[in-house]
Amino acid sequence: MKTQIAICGYGTVGQGVRRVLTENRKEIEERCGFSPEIAYILDLRDFRGDPFEDRLVRDFTEIENDPDVAVVVETMGGLHPAFEFTARALRAGKSVVTSNKAVVAEYGRELLSIAEESGVLYLFEASCGGGIPIIRPLRTSLCTERIDSISGILNGTTNYILTRMAEEMVPYEQALAEAQAKGYAEKDPTADVEGYDACRKIAILGSIAFGTYIDYRTVPTEGITKITVEDIWDAVRKGEKYRLIAEAKQTPEGISVSVAPRRVSESSPFYSVNGVFNAILVHGNMVGDVFFAGQGAGMDATGSAVSSDVLEALAYANRNEIRSEKKC
Ligand code: HSE
Repeated sequence: MKTQIAICGYGTVGQGVRRVLTENRKEIEERCGFSPEIAYILDLRDFRGDPFEDRLVRDFTEIENDPDVAVVVETMGGLHPAFEFTARALRAGKSVVTSNKAVVAEYGRELLSIAEESGVLYLFEASCGGGIPIIRPLRTSLCTERIDSISGILNGTTNYILTRMAEEMVPYEQALAEAQAKGYAEKDPTADVEGYDACRKIAILGSIAFGTYIDYRTVPTEGITKITVEDIWDAVRKGEKYRLIAEAKQTPEGISVSVAPRRVSESSPFYSVNGVFNAILVHGNMVGDVFFAGQGAGMDATGSAVSSDVLEALAYANRNEIRSEKKC
């Protein structure tokens, strides 16, 4: 049975994956009959005193050439070399799981087709909505639905900022600094506050929900930087809140996709989604509304979503043995 994995990128999310897989090892083993073994951690930085310090490597080739590594976890962020490492891992017959929405939105189609050619998986549950299970439910539980719309709060940093500004009168810069300190924001938080991160996420979710490729570059996108303190107070006075809403919906003219700040009132399901929480509302023609909510960013929540993909990818790598041993 192949249980070895490699984590590429040992920042917030990479460390979250390590935490989930080690803290919950017993539960994972009981449920699945096996548990992932972290064989390598690729990062250029030093992590003195880290319990997995002895697994640190700096050369991706070591991972690529090790036939025992069945799954590569790409939590590096950024497009390059994350894309190249992903493609090389897939071509080397390893499944890749990722939280990297930039790579999924830009190269997802290409990487999925390389994965298919290589007979492995490319999974990206953690790329949208942090710890919220949404991609797997769209792929499986909701696969018989005709989806009419999918909308949501898809960025934890901006939701945290908007909540802190409205509820605690915290200035924008301070709220952003807090979101950065908590590990919610991107390395360059422009992607969060200008809506680019939410834009990539809705392009990914829309593509899955509607079974057609949505190019994130075509999505009209506005972030939260034009919202003034006066705007926020005006909303508060009227019992409303600003929320950054990403939406993809079927219209008679085709699929319409957008990201923009909206004022929501108490009757909106997004009204009580506060802080780092994200939420996604899916409307299917048979099931009606389905609402998903949870922490949209952060080490443990995102690590949890990545880890679920690791288990799916390992189960796939060992499917013949698992079938004969009736595990999972
Ligand atoms: N910067 C992202 C956010 C991280 O704040 O939602 C999770 O994708």
